[in-house]
Amino acid sequence: MTSTARLSRLSTPFRNVPGRYLARRASSTSQNPKKETSVAHHHRSPTHHHHVSYSETDDAVPWLAKQPLHRLSLADLVKHGRPPLNAEALLSSARFTLSLLPIRLAHRIQALRNLPYIVVSNPNIRKIYNNYQHSLSTLLPWQGRTISNLEDEIRFTEVLAELVNTHTDTIPILARGFLECRKYISPAEVTRFLDHHLRARIGTRLVAEQHIALHYSSSPHFDPSSSPTPCPENPGYIGVIDTALRPASTVDSCGTFVADICELNYGVRPEWTIKGSPETTFAFVPMHLEYIITELLKNAFRATVENGQSKSPVEITIAPEPPSSAVTTTPPVITLSPPSVSLGAFNKDHIQPLDDNAPGVTIRIRDRGGGISPEVLPHIWSYSFTTFSESEDDPPGAWSDDALSVISAASSGGSSIAGLGYGLPLSRAYAEYFGGGIAVQSLHGWGTDVYLRLKGVGRIE
Ligand SMILES: Nc1ncnc2c1ncn2[C@@H]1O[C@H](COP(=O)(O)OP(=O)(O)OP(=O)(O)O)[C@@H](O)[C@H]1O
Ligand SMILES: [Mg+2]
Repeated sequence: MTSTARLSRLSTPFRNVPGRYLARRASSTSQNPKKETSVAHHHRSPTHHHHVSYSETDDAVPWLAKQPLHRLSLADLVKHGRPPLNAEALLSSARFTLSLLPIRLAHRIQALRNLPYIVVSNPNIRKIYNNYQHSLSTLLPWQGRTISNLEDEIRFTEVLAELVNTHTDTIPILARGFLECRKYISPAEVTRFLDHHLRARIGTRLVAEQHIALHYSSSPHFDPSSSPTPCPENPGYIGVIDTALRPASTVDSCGTFVADICELNYGVRPEWTIKGSPETTFAFVPMHLEYIITELLKNAFRATVENGQSKSPVEITIAPEPPSSAVTTTPPVITLSPPSVSLGAFNKDHIQPLDDNAPGVTIRIRDRGGGISPEVLPHIWSYSFTTFSESEDDPPGAWSDDALSVISAASSGGSSIAGLGYGLPLSRAYAEYFGGGIAVQSLHGWGTDVYLRLKGVGRIE
């Protein structure tokens, strides 16, 4: 594992990157499909905004970035049917995925180009920029052709796996880049950029990972050992969505992981208890829940230990919403329609919940870590704001060099409990993606309650 990959275990929810499973195959058959000039509607512009050596995909970006983003819905993710997909449904999923990704990548490239030149020139930001350019260049040859046979579909899935892999370590690299640029760009501007960028990234990865997961659980390519989701033996999964996800199990597995980090950092293992309705299940994306719970537990455990309360267990309450809280008495049902190539209305970048009445779950994480002081509270949702300080003498605060040393420590194999200042804002981005949210209630001097509300994706039939 590379050093950044190690760090990314803490910073991204994609610890089980499907790409890893595909990478083996990708190396054997990585030839591109027959090259075709795809987006032929435009010409290379003679002048560039920045003195950046854009690659051959250069000319495609402005045109693609002008295309509106598809308003992705959860229904889109499940509309190709319940695994195992037959060949036709799988091809339709591939075509749908291809219809979305180049536009999404181009929008990100354009946003990176719009950053101040001195920021885009930073080697770390540049690396992310180049990753996007590269990924777009691997997709462009597919545009203007139809994925109509399984051979194409396999090659396309390999491209997706490489894409997912390429962008795995984005967060620590961007974090380092923006820290190094902190003289040239304000925290507010960074937060604005990252909020948009990282939310868009959630959707892009989801679209790619959904097809990869469907690929391995389809009848033509069924390979349980390669599948990132235990499909189709476990009928609860539709691609990366677990229709019977049990948050209590996620809390326990993430709790063990975070307690390990605490033991490394502080020499103590905080404890936790689960209250409420631990038996609750709902339909959600497990990778997203794992990310959020890990970040919230890191914060709660750190505060508990630093406040000298290691003996007070962190209390997690799982509260399912009553099924008939809405006007309708029957729970929402999603009917999986036969494959359709409709692209819907193109206008927004958020995934909509399948149904506003989909029963959700609220998870409260209560710690006795002393709460959050009034001076700190206004900053907790800003990217890069942290009170974590490695050395006792440094006054803690935002934008310190400590974060750089945390990144370096993590790169050399350590695990960090805090320090990037990305945990809360990024968790909120994940929670809001499907219409949920996070609220923090601090009792300064006592502890903190964090309410994580997640909307289920509805009942899927
Ligand atoms: N449960 C909590 N108790 C006390 N303070 C908290 C709690 N959760 C968050 N905070 C405060 O909010 C700040 C920001 O939290 P956030 O999770 O975004 O970043 P971080 O924990 O410092 O770094 P990262 O999560 O990226 O490793 C923390 O540095 C801490 O001061
Ligand atoms: Mg944190």
